[in-house]
Amino acid sequence: MTRIAVFASGRGSNFEALVAAERAGVFPGEIVLLLSDQPNAGALEIAAAHDIEGRVIETAKRRGRIDPDSEALYVEACRGAGVEWICLAGFMRIIGQPLLSAFTDRIVNIHPSLLPSFPGLDAQRQAWEYGVRVSGCTVHLVDAGMDTGPIILQQAVSVMEGESAGQLASRILAQEHKAYPEALRRVLTGAWHREGRRINFQKTEGESA
Ligand code: GRF
Repeated sequence: MTRIAVFASGRGSNFEALVAAERAGVFPGEIVLLLSDQPNAGALEIAAAHDIEGRVIETAKRRGRIDPDSEALYVEACRGAGVEWICLAGFMRIIGQPLLSAFTDRIVNIHPSLLPSFPGLDAQRQAWEYGVRVSGCTVHLVDAGMDTGPIILQQAVSVMEGESAGQLASRILAQEHKAYPEALRRVLTGAWHREGRRINFQKTEGESA
């Protein structure tokens, strides 16, 4: 079983969906650690409720990045728990070199838009205000940029006539809760390789060409 850490700053609904999917055997991994930069994150309560070790590692704000000293503590905590993959689930910090070098191509993020459109904060509202007819969510590997890494999976959500940005965000969130476990299943089972920005999944037996 692959040992997984989740990093979350907020309410933790994606974290909870990942825990539920893990327990249902959707992907061959075990979530062993929840790290948060926010002492009052809802995700910490969810971790406690599921007997998952939850820890807070606070970090000074540096243009959205983790400060280097704190980032070393994140690396240490993950290594100490034997973590192999990291899932960012509403973690409001840009990941830097210490984590990227320690877990190259083993850090995943979920973003509530169809990237590369609408990276950054409040993506659902950005898309709604722009007037797009289709938005959705993206699960991607994390690189040094903000929401720029190679894409594992995307799920489209049509914008409904007359709905508010909040209603759109709720419908996207419901899809996030399915897309994140499925993306993990894809990278943790079967073979894949990176070719520049592209991730190529090898077809498994039984899949048509
Ligand atoms: C989600 O919309 C996720 O896509 C984004 O941050 C939000 C986190 O929500 N990165 P939650 O804490 O998982 O409920």
